[in-house]
Amino acid sequence: SKQISIDEVKASIRDVVDFPKEGIVFKDITTAIKDPAVLVYCVDELYEYYKDKGITKVIGIESRGFILGSVLAYRLNAGFVPVRKPGKLPAETIQESYDLEYGTDTIEIHKDALNKEDVVLIHDDLLATGGTVCAATSLVDKFGVKKSYVNFMVELDFLKGRERIEDKYDVYSLLRF
Ligand code: PRP
Ligand code: ADE
Repeated sequence: SKQISIDEVKASIRDVVDFPKEGIVFKDITTAIKDPAVLVYCVDELYEYYKDKGITKVIGIESRGFILGSVLAYRLNAGFVPVRKPGKLPAETIQESYDLEYGTDTIEIHKDALNKEDVVLIHDDLLATGGTVCAATSLVDKFGVKKSYVNFMVELDFLKGRERIEDKYDVYSLLRF
């Protein structure tokens, strides 16, 4: 297949100005993942980073975290666990609320989704303020898992979300803006 560089992957992400609100420059990953060469590059890079870490479950955060999260789970031979917006998961859940770059939200996970033997990779498409991932790590921590890794396709450096998690977790982002 076509060989590409990390700069080409970076360039494949589209900026959408004033979405979903005025003043936000939205990083649109759909223009990246629609290109098979970009998709392969991203998944292969992440696989190389995580393949020897003993990951047993990948957590994908709704909704854009489901895309690469499930591909990564398959590739790592791990299970996939969805963290969802409220009212979507059918069985008993635990919940956490948080602030977003453009609003507030709540996420939840099934009470029986993880156990103490799990080594978890929490994946989302993008790190902005870190509100979402902090809520996700709080949920995961309640299960007393062995270890949690945190991964993003895109990190927005200027919002400093990394500072809220890097002391406690191994954080790796494929692309930084
Ligand atoms: C986006 C993105 C992350 C979160 C990052 O999700 O996919 O989950 O925001 O922002 P933060 O670091 O400031 O918390 P969004 O809530 O827009 O939902 P979506 O994935 O369903 O589009
Ligand atoms: N989630 C939070 N902020 C975002 C941004 N600027 N672009 C894409 N997704 C986001």
